[in-house]
Amino acid sequence: MTTMTPGQLTEDVLASHSGTPDPRLRELLAALIAHLHAFVVQTRLTPAEWQAALAFLTATGQICDAERQEFILLSDVLGLSSLVDLVNAAPGATESTVLGPFYVPGAPRRAPGEQIGRPEDGPPVLVRGRVTDTGGRPLAGATLDVWQCSSNGLYDTQDPGQPPYNLRGVFATGPDGRYEFRTVRPVSYPIPVDGPVGDLLRAAGRDHWRAAHIHAIISAPGHRAVTTHIFDSDNPYLDRDAVFGVRGSLVKPFEPAGPGDPADVSYVVDMDFSLTPAESAPAGAVDKSA
Ligand code: BEZ
Ligand code: FE
Repeated sequence: MTTMTPGQLTEDVLASHSGTPDPRLRELLAALIAHLHAFVVQTRLTPAEWQAALAFLTATGQICDAERQEFILLSDVLGLSSLVDLVNAAPGATESTVLGPFYVPGAPRRAPGEQIGRPEDGPPVLVRGRVTDTGGRPLAGATLDVWQCSSNGLYDTQDPGQPPYNLRGVFATGPDGRYEFRTVRPVSYPIPVDGPVGDLLRAAGRDHWRAAHIHAIISAPGHRAVTTHIFDSDNPYLDRDAVFGVRGSLVKPFEPAGPGDPADVSYVVDMDFSLTPAESAPAGAVDKSA
């Protein structure tokens, strides 16, 4: 028998998975094995480093529970969540970005223009715009499911001082595709760093802050839903968002309200959204309400 080499070992492992019946799983396993093996060879990974990596992944799993998903957070800070999002983007649609761990389905439907926050949550903001298809045609009856944190940097689900569904709401567009809602000016907030992901960020000397944002999922019958953010252009973390979620087209000025704007808001944000028709969406990404 000839001496085993790294290249031969990789070939053997690939061959042992080549009979995987599901073609997509076969493709994913082959690429995963090839990349993992190449990583070990390229870095000459030592046994101690291999053990440290396994201990890190074990700790990541052990801190997970019904409320905390450290693996998603790990994916987020390594830019993987954002990359999955980018490679699945719908051309021509509003740029999408990470969902994050604080989305709660079932937020209340609210009247156009309704305020989703309380005075203590921050300065009032009017967000307004249109939802269209990629040809610029208005989409009536599209929905915007929006959520954000309060001025203390916490979402309602993290803060017993906030009522359920505080700073959350579902809004519908009118016949002209227009929507508006009132919220408060968002703030930057730290992602959880009391677990293994925090250790990783500290080891890398990285920031653990998210650039201030409002989350939104925009959906319409027959169209592919977009999960996205509106970022405040006046924010110091835009170029070092901890989860690589910032996209230039999603950064908007929070303009001080002027004479023509409603008197009860301090800022106004204009943000239009565009959705791709379902025909051009990959399977599984289509709004089911169509
Ligand atoms: C968020 O924006 O809610 C978020 C996204 C990724 C990690 C942590 C928080
Ligand atoms: Fe967020």
